[in-house]
Amino acid sequence: MAKGYYISKAVAAVGIVVGAAAVATIIALSVVYAQEKSKNEVKPTDGGVQPKPTAEPKPTTEPKPTTPPPSNQPWDRYRLPDALVPENYNVTLWPRLEPQSDGMYIFTGSSSVLFQCVKETDLILIHCNKLNLTKFGDHQAKLTGVDGSIPPPINNTWLKVETQYLVIQLSGKLEPGKRYQLDTQFRGELADDLAGFYRSEYYEDGVKKVVATTQMQATDARKAFPCFDEPAMKAVFHITLIHKPGTVALSNGMEGPVENITMDSMTVSRTQFEPTKRMSTYLLAFIVSDYDNVRNETGNLLVRIWARRKAIAEGQGDYALSKTGPILKFFEEYYNATYPLSKSDQIALPDFNAGAMENWGLITYRETALLYDPSVSSNSNKERVTTIIAHELAHMWFGNLVTMRWWNDLWLNEGFASYVEYLGAHAVEPTWNIKDLIVLGDVQRVFAVDALVSSHPLSSREEDITKPAQISELFDAISYSKGASVLRMLSEFLSEEVFRSGLSVSGIILYFGTTAVKLVGHRLSCCGHQAVEKHNVQLPHKVHDIMNRWVLQMGFPVVTINTVTGEVSQKHFLLDPEAKPTTVSPFNYEWFVPIKWMKNGVEQPQMWLLNKIASGNQWVLGNVNVTGYYRVNYDSGNWQRLLAELQNNHEIVPVINRAQLMDDAFNLARAKIIDTTLALNTTKYLSKEREYMPWQTASNNLDYFFLMFDRSETYGPMQAYLRTQVLPLFEYFKNLTSDWKDVPQGHTDHVSADNEVSVIMRLGITDGVFAVNDGCGRIHANLRSTVYCSAIAEGGAEEWDFGWEMFKNASLAAEADRLRAALACTRKPWLLNRYLEYTLDPTKIRKQDATATIINIASNVVGQPLAWDFVRARWEYIFNQYGGGSFSFSNLINGVTKRFSTEFELKQLNQFKQDYTEFGSGELALEQSIERTTANIKWVMENKEKVLQWFQNA
Ligand SMILES: *[C@@H]1O[C@H](CO)[C@@H](O)[C@H](O)[C@H]1NC(C)=O
Ligand SMILES: *[C@@H]1O[C@H](CO)[C@@H](O)[C@H](O)[C@H]1NC(C)=O
Ligand SMILES: *[C@@H]1O[C@H](CO)[C@@H](O)[C@H](O)[C@H]1NC(C)=O
Ligand SMILES: *[C@@H]1O[C@H](CO)[C@@H](O)[C@H](O)[C@H]1NC(C)=O
Ligand SMILES: [Zn+2]
Repeated sequence: MAKGYYISKAVAAVGIVVGAAAVATIIALSVVYAQEKSKNEVKPTDGGVQPKPTAEPKPTTEPKPTTPPPSNQPWDRYRLPDALVPENYNVTLWPRLEPQSDGMYIFTGSSSVLFQCVKETDLILIHCNKLNLTKFGDHQAKLTGVDGSIPPPINNTWLKVETQYLVIQLSGKLEPGKRYQLDTQFRGELADDLAGFYRSEYYEDGVKKVVATTQMQATDARKAFPCFDEPAMKAVFHITLIHKPGTVALSNGMEGPVENITMDSMTVSRTQFEPTKRMSTYLLAFIVSDYDNVRNETGNLLVRIWARRKAIAEGQGDYALSKTGPILKFFEEYYNATYPLSKSDQIALPDFNAGAMENWGLITYRETALLYDPSVSSNSNKERVTTIIAHELAHMWFGNLVTMRWWNDLWLNEGFASYVEYLGAHAVEPTWNIKDLIVLGDVQRVFAVDALVSSHPLSSREEDITKPAQISELFDAISYSKGASVLRMLSEFLSEEVFRSGLSVSGIILYFGTTAVKLVGHRLSCCGHQAVEKHNVQLPHKVHDIMNRWVLQMGFPVVTINTVTGEVSQKHFLLDPEAKPTTVSPFNYEWFVPIKWMKNGVEQPQMWLLNKIASGNQWVLGNVNVTGYYRVNYDSGNWQRLLAELQNNHEIVPVINRAQLMDDAFNLARAKIIDTTLALNTTKYLSKEREYMPWQTASNNLDYFFLMFDRSETYGPMQAYLRTQVLPLFEYFKNLTSDWKDVPQGHTDHVSADNEVSVIMRLGITDGVFAVNDGCGRIHANLRSTVYCSAIAEGGAEEWDFGWEMFKNASLAAEADRLRAALACTRKPWLLNRYLEYTLDPTKIRKQDATATIINIASNVVGQPLAWDFVRARWEYIFNQYGGGSFSFSNLINGVTKRFSTEFELKQLNQFKQDYTEFGSGELALEQSIERTTANIKWVMENKEKVLQWFQNA
């Protein structure tokens, strides 16, 4: 899956706005509105804008006993026994796109699975969840022999709800080596729960349309039909869909001709799909819709982008179509293996929980992750589309062709895709400097989580991950972003060429059976090592010994370079200096650390920690381009030299490292390794900075100051200082865009303008921004988030309702997203409370967007206490309606409590913990919030005076 919780800067940055002069904005808004309205479309959807998940570390040491102790019956265990191996399935499904007389939406289906017995057994366990099985005679399944084998009669069948099995007890044994066929018929609900086979709805020309679609990962294929639902249980799938004539049916394989047949005395269409390759159940997809597509065909490959008819007609699929072929081509070269399928379908869904899902041959997306409209989408929307497509296409090989044997190895699957998505995106948009952005999007982001004692190692033990909720918890920042960061480090210290040649072992590609990522991981180090020898790369240790340090223990080091003594040392970096990790690391929290470094602006040969650095009196910079997964500290003399260099000649320091110096300094200060005023001093040069990454980093770090101080007397001086710093940038962009009439050239300039205007707005320079339009009254897409937010913030109920109408009528999902976030900017408590109520009404806010919207409201200083009260009061309802396994709970809790820094708030948190028994995937986030609030209280107490003084002097 793509990071479902991808944060869009454009929307995330919308938080606190201070300013005046809303009238002009309202006028600008109405112009945009008129344009939108003329497109005359009923609301599509989507949101996608939740923060990436912060870690939900798995308690390897002390799991909380939530279930009774395991009994010894096979059906009480979450893992399948190893007696049976599926070979192929015939599955027919018929989703009804109209409700039944009782208002319920359903699907019916039948499945037959042919499996081989590899160990004698009198028991068949097959996953089955929330399905109503039809009986064949006395039993809920029918067993027949294949190739003349005669199965024993069925003794008894029942559904085991807790472990999600259909249990079939036989009166005799199945024989090893023999093959059997199991038939089932069933009926399930086509609910709007975003899991398994589910329904998504939208309006087109005032008519409600229903899409039947799927999200199987991780454990919901069993909700669509009975199956051996583990990734290693690969099989060939023969899929048939029954659907209403005139609708389109899609699945993993290429569709055959559509036939009209009669079923239940109705004329229906039947579409059969070419059999799939051997594949895992979690990658299946079945979709019936009224969609249209754009397509192209190059060589033997058919590429199609599917979406609502209106979206296709408006050309919103064109950008994705133009990039898919080239990205696939890039990965064919990267993996040195051709794309394994004959077609590549990608489809945009109005309701979708994650960002996207790499179903083999039929990738599903949120609308904001696939559709792009140059006239309305911003550059960050475009960037998101490109990288998510690259991420999903990367999985077509790594993940789908070669698959992890069990979910504990998820990090390799997701980490790898999260790393190469930048390479794929760079290949097709080479002018964007997109590869650099991994440092903002993944490295810095996961540092924040991995610096807590409640983090966890990349690799989990297989036996610790069995329940669906435990599997869900793995889809976190550690798996995605740390996975990506660590693989990037490997690729950088080996060189990309060597890394690749170690990966594209033809063996992996040949391996079409149940390939374990364990095996892949093994190959990665083994063959990586051969590649290393072949290329004569000098390393102090074997590759896998180096990598084990990063994979098997949590956290990362802070490397201290002492330019006085030349000594270079490491220490486990923890945000809370008093915290002690409760888990023992096999490596004692020491790492093998590759160090790229620079002296006086000149790059030095790569070295490894333990070597000394001789600096003389020159400035030294460690971790050039942050290719290593660690932070860097220096002796104070070197810090001062670096700060002086930033002031005098900042461009000699690579742009990524200008961002790093601030990010490291602020975090070292929070960990009390350096003084807070030193961290603040790293921002002094910003008045000279024109680049996007340092500003974004500064904004991220100053966010913490805003969160801690925007309710205190520090706020005024802080704002005054930042205003001075940002003013030259504002003037620069104003000039560059001829008073905001043009769009700057170059993608990062675009994004800069986008981002920087929101920094500017946040800091209170609002005059002028209201002229932000192209001269014909149109607000450029890049600036809309900011402008919308400030209009809503300045306005009252009328403006809010106006914004709400725009939101309901937006024809592009990305635009709807911006408006949805902007509506959280109002400072009227009653409007915020009403909006909070809307978030739990799926006819107003789609379920996929509920948590993101609550978090948006909580990031508004006025909305924060309201959101917290709301979440506490409605917890039970939210928990039951929005699913205990959903990933969003940790985001929700983290998002709502982010600002907490008082004893009173800590007390409330502890009370909340006592008031309810279940927090689902938010449980560890709650622990983290308590830990974080405690740290915040201490930090504010210790730093308040100092910070106030610093800002007053500065
Ligand atoms: C099936 O029925 C639909 C709608 O009635 C019609 O448009 C289509 O041409 C028919 N297809 C075939 C193969 O007869
Ligand atoms: C650092 O990154 C910049 C920008 O991506 C690149 O031009 C430069 O070559 C990199 N330096 C090193 C030492 O990799
Ligand atoms: C920060 O800068 C101020 C003013 O230049 C200076 O007086 C102070 O010593 C610096 N603090 C640190 C810790 O470097
Ligand atoms: C704006 O940019 C132009 C050309 O780059 C430059 O000549 C001019 O001095 C700038 N104006 C201001 C006010 O910075
Ligand atoms: Zn993924």
